[in-house]
Amino acid sequence: MPSRPDPVIHVIASRLRAAGSVFAEDEAAVLIESAADDAELEQLVRRRVAGEPLEPLVGWVRFGALRLAVGPGVFVPRQRSLRLARLAVRRARAAAVPVMLEPYCGVAPLAATVAASVDRVEVHAADRDPAAIALARRNLPAGAGVHHADAFDGLPRALRGRITVIAAVPPYVPGTEVGLMPREARDHEPTGALVGGGADGLDHARRLILGAGPWLVPGGSLLLELGARQLPVAATRARAAGWRARVHPPNQSSTGVLELVAGNTVA
Ligand SMILES: C[S@@+](CC[C@H](N)C(=O)[O-])C[C@H]1O[C@@H](n2cnc3c(N)ncnc32)[C@H](O)[C@@H]1O
Repeated sequence: MPSRPDPVIHVIASRLRAAGSVFAEDEAAVLIESAADDAELEQLVRRRVAGEPLEPLVGWVRFGALRLAVGPGVFVPRQRSLRLARLAVRRARAAAVPVMLEPYCGVAPLAATVAASVDRVEVHAADRDPAAIALARRNLPAGAGVHHADAFDGLPRALRGRITVIAAVPPYVPGTEVGLMPREARDHEPTGALVGGGADGLDHARRLILGAGPWLVPGGSLLLELGARQLPVAATRARAAGWRARVHPPNQSSTGVLELVAGNTVA
């Protein structure tokens, strides 16, 4: 929809604010950008005021320079994961023959960022949820591999030993902490996309740490976004499994990145 005069944004923002929106101006701008005409805008505002989450309602989310397709019942990429995406770009750019995999991909924000930022990269993404896979396919270039897989189970065997960087945001919220999550996530995103399993929420991370080795080239990286308290626990587990581990601690959010390299020194 063409840009609207400020009063329209303010009117919509005040309706959103009255319904409890914290970022009412930003949300109003997204709704205006998404609507084809005034009638559709009114529909979108009403549905948002009634409690539908913003991104699945409009069908997209901004992630860095990208506008990614999202949909109902699928995890919406978080802005905090841009840090991991940029690290994956750096590691892929450093490779002579870059091949990147995003397991647990959801709508594939990390793979889409790498595909858009790295020359001649071969990109793959995988998830076990068909709805996520369909959206990942829309967000990735035509040549990308999009796979139905349970962690690494189901990936093409031809990928073994060829990947230079694996980057993932696995489900990592401990089951006991789901109640602390924002209501929109609890009510509208699948529990299986959020809860990591095990008392510490690290079951999926452990699966990646124990399973990634055979898929990587020597010196390839496994990058995982995890919660602040989980990073040292996962790093200890990874070192015990033979990885070199480096923790990128949280800076502006409560999450950081665990970087693992097999048989090589982390730069
Ligand atoms: C926290 S979301 C992250 C999605 C995406 N990487 C992002 O940052 O937006 C985790 C994703 O893992 C998927 N998932 C959960 N268990 C899985 C499993 N065993 N194998 C593959 N994918 C799984 C969920 O369907 C969900 O899309």
